[in-house]
Amino acid sequence: MVNKEVLIPDDAITQNLRGRSFLKLEDFSPQELIRFFEVARNLKEAQKAGQPHPLLAGKSLAMIFRKTSTRTRVSFEVGIYQLGGQALYLNSDDIQLGRGESVYDTAMVLSRYVDGIMIRTFQQAEVEQLAQHATVPVINGLTDYCHPCQVLSDLFTVQEKRGCLRGLKLTYVGDGNNMAHSLLIGCSKLGMDVCIAHPPGYAPLPETVAKAKALAEASDSAVELTTDPVAGVTGADIIYTDVWTSMGQEAEEEQRIQAFGQYQVNSALLKHAKPDAVVMHCLPANRGQEITDEVMDGPQSIVFDQAENRLHVQKAIMALLMGE
Ligand code: CP
Ligand code: NVA
Repeated sequence: MVNKEVLIPDDAITQNLRGRSFLKLEDFSPQELIRFFEVARNLKEAQKAGQPHPLLAGKSLAMIFRKTSTRTRVSFEVGIYQLGGQALYLNSDDIQLGRGESVYDTAMVLSRYVDGIMIRTFQQAEVEQLAQHATVPVINGLTDYCHPCQVLSDLFTVQEKRGCLRGLKLTYVGDGNNMAHSLLIGCSKLGMDVCIAHPPGYAPLPETVAKAKALAEASDSAVELTTDPVAGVTGADIIYTDVWTSMGQEAEEEQRIQAFGQYQVNSALLKHAKPDAVVMHCLPANRGQEITDEVMDGPQSIVFDQAENRLHVQKAIMALLMGE
């Protein structure tokens, strides 16, 4: 068994994370984000070496899903199991929340049973409200506004591949959605240049762009928005993309296919990035729309390493927030 002190540095940064919720990347300092990476690396090494690391023995995580999921559900569930705890999968249609029980009452009740709550839902305000009333940490497993667990693990993946983050340029090609918002905040906090190449009418929220610009100034990096995908990926170290139609937007699919046609990550677009650029996608992918098979299965793609790292990074999130 690995010693807890070897896995998690016991200092003021760790103490300050204990008991907190993980609602959006805006809420964490660069040092705190780096602490998640350090613990994720240690937990990944322990897991690969077959060393037990039951940091959350006897603890439970409730996982509320108002939207479908493969990666988030499986990685949280397996993750807490590897940490010695257990997960409860709660489809919102199967619990009273789905029949109108209030978020307040749900927060009060679940807090009496479990040690943490993960929620995937539509409105960011619902996650914030749950966290306000729960007495245990709440973790955002995706909202329409952001996807902080995904981007934290994506930046961990980039650091693993490149050895650093500062000075790299990440270009996101696609919709100014939850992924774009978390990438804007995460990259600008950690000193990476971030560019969003989006179709007209699909820009990220102006207030999030403004926040990212202020963060970039502090970290000596740059934030850029463009409607030209070729200009956007020029000089990029990382090209990132996501579906054109997110969960909950299904009625707009036809209109979006028309609007996003020129924003496909394909071999021709990749030629404009740096020769050693890597390609990322949070998945699920709609192959043939935002990304071609050739790129997704090609040598520059790191999409499945990204997917794996959800497990290690979320274990770090849970161990830091829910551990003692
Ligand atoms: N990337 C991601 O969150 O995947 P799921 O929707 O499968 O959880
Ligand atoms: N933007 C996508 C991300 C899925 C992980 C969605 O919200 O459906």
